[in-house]
Amino acid sequence: MATASTGQRAATAACDRRLTYDNYLHIPDLLSLQQPLSTQDDELHFIVVHQAMELWFKLLHHDVRQLVLLLDADRLARCCTVMRRVNDVMHALLAQLRSLRDLPPESFHAFRGRLSGASGFQSAQFRELEVASGLRNEQYLQDLRATNGGTLPEAVARNLHRRSLAQAHLDAARRAGVGDWAELYRQPHLETTLHVLSELLLDYDELWLRWRTEHVILVRRMIGGASRGTGGASIDYLERTVRHRFFPHLWELRNVLAADPVHQTTGSDRARP
Ligand code: HEM
Repeated sequence: MATASTGQRAATAACDRRLTYDNYLHIPDLLSLQQPLSTQDDELHFIVVHQAMELWFKLLHHDVRQLVLLLDADRLARCCTVMRRVNDVMHALLAQLRSLRDLPPESFHAFRGRLSGASGFQSAQFRELEVASGLRNEQYLQDLRATNGGTLPEAVARNLHRRSLAQAHLDAARRAGVGDWAELYRQPHLETTLHVLSELLLDYDELWLRWRTEHVILVRRMIGGASRGTGGASIDYLERTVRHRFFPHLWELRNVLAADPVHQTTGSDRARP
């Protein structure tokens, strides 16, 4: 009689261990990861928001890397679909950040001391996402070095050589014959997927700007503007980060459009994403 192959045995074993909601999503593991350091009721909220954001950062980073490949293959329509999801996730991140406004500062201070030197500044995924999206100007790198004891955070150094979303966008535009960004926006008859995609990228940049701004406001609400963070940074450092842009060329072209309204078309037939 023929004996079962290793593959068949593995398949049978997998069927025996029936797939359930819990074991597919590893829910027991996930729910074991919230470990408050204090007895303060509100610490669980603080932990859950940070962990949830890290999960979303994971999906965003995955999508941003996918977008670079899609742009390099000139698959612009597919890029628009992915960008819509990316921007939906950014809205979810903002909503979660806002929920922390309900954390009373006196409750936060009851467990803040336990955090010791732990800080969001050390989030490797946040840095990977910034660099993958296109942030790598000298001011950004200088500020990071200064706040990080003289060296770049490892997650930044490791990713600086990889193509960013901003670079892939500029290259795709060059291949499509875009020399002057303002021209792309001024001529609705040339309405292209590239234009729609560029506006979705601007939405993404704007949502980051909103995240950074609301995070600074949250920090002021929780600890004021005089003390340093658990990572050692001042409020001035955080306020400077609000100047960062992934796609400066898309912001700059607004100046060009505003400075030369004569060439403006109404653009009323232009589809908004
Ligand atoms: C009570 C709420 C919060 C407070 C008081 C707070 C405070 C701070 C402070 C003071 C900094 C400056 C660095 C330092 O620690 O010295 C910082 C940076 C940071 N925080 Fe928060 N934070 C809060 C919520 C969050 C949440 C929910 C996240 C989500 C992951 C987060 C992510 C970050 C990141 C990524 C940075 C680095 C920002 C950058 O360098 O551009 N923070 N936070």
